[in-house]
Amino acid sequence: MSGLIRFGVSLEKKLLDDFDKLIAEKKYFNRSEAIRDLIRDSFVKEEWEKGAEVAGAISVVYDHHKRELMDVIVDIQHEYHDMIVASQHAHLDHHNCLEVVIVKGKSDRIKTLSDKLRAVKGVKHGALSITTLGKEF
Ligand code: NI
Repeated sequence: MSGLIRFGVSLEKKLLDDFDKLIAEKKYFNRSEAIRDLIRDSFVKEEWEKGAEVAGAISVVYDHHKRELMDVIVDIQHEYHDMIVASQHAHLDHHNCLEVVIVKGKSDRIKTLSDKLRAVKGVKHGALSITTLGKEF
């Protein structure tokens, strides 16, 4: 890491105590690590809100016995093939499958793809994990 700069932060005691509890729970090494992470998180959210080029992972859980459901999930992914970096399928048990789709592209299109996959009738749960291409920070 180059050019580290130290700066002071003034906080109410209660807020700092709560923050110290939180960073202990989250296993941060020190306050600086925790603050850096929070700052980067804000920039990631900003990138997503601005419609920037980003990366993410969409997870969906569904019952593979519902055959048409699998077809719809595959059709939707083909529609967005230009943004899909990889997808991984795991058989959770006799009925349930977990599919994780790694995506890279404009945030608004990723959100649309995620919404479409999560809205497929029969999908039990879906989640979008947002992150960054890491170029800006
Ligand atoms: Ni499966």
